[in-house]
Amino acid sequence: MNELIQYPGLLDDDFDEEPCASIEDERFDQVYPSKVQELSWRHWTPVAVAVEAAKLLVTRPRTRVLDVGCGPGKFCLVAAELKDARFTGIEQRSDLVAIARQAALKHRLTNIEIIHGNVTDFAFAAYDAFYLFNPFEENMFKRKKIDSSVPLSKALFKK
Ligand SMILES: C[S@@+](CC[C@H](N)C(=O)[O-])C[C@H]1O[C@@H](n2cnc3c(N)ncnc32)[C@H](O)[C@@H]1O
Repeated sequence: MNELIQYPGLLDDDFDEEPCASIEDERFDQVYPSKVQELSWRHWTPVAVAVEAAKLLVTRPRTRVLDVGCGPGKFCLVAAELKDARFTGIEQRSDLVAIARQAALKHRLTNIEIIHGNVTDFAFAAYDAFYLFNPFEENMFKRKKIDSSVPLSKALFKK
């Protein structure tokens, strides 16, 4: 972390990135509204990564996994299809919470719970395994933001 703070230029997104998504991601993301689909290549876990992460995190039945900053729930949805485990996502943006819950209903997944809240006020003790997909990254960049609905700052990243 200190290294990153020492070289802030490396964290600035002055360069342009090309959107890039796999066919399986494009297909999966159709469960989401178009605005959420457009954010996927940059902000949501790719399906292939979710599959590997689920294998690594769930080492015994009924493992309780927490996705810290779950967005529209893509990791939880993919992992819950594959594993006999309980997936909880916590997310600060209420619209993404609603979208994640809707997608879980559509996929008829009952081993998912999506909580609306801030991870800084959350107790982690009830979980066996934790998944993070750069949840605090958007505090560090000028342009790589999901939206402007929540406060973002470098101070929050350091916290
Ligand atoms: C890069 S996205 C990853 C989403 C999801 N984990 C995935 O892999 O598809 C990070 C998410 O973390 C959420 N987030 C960031 N800080 C948070 C906080 N303090 N409390 C709750 N959610 C937070 C953001 O709103 C965003 O939806």
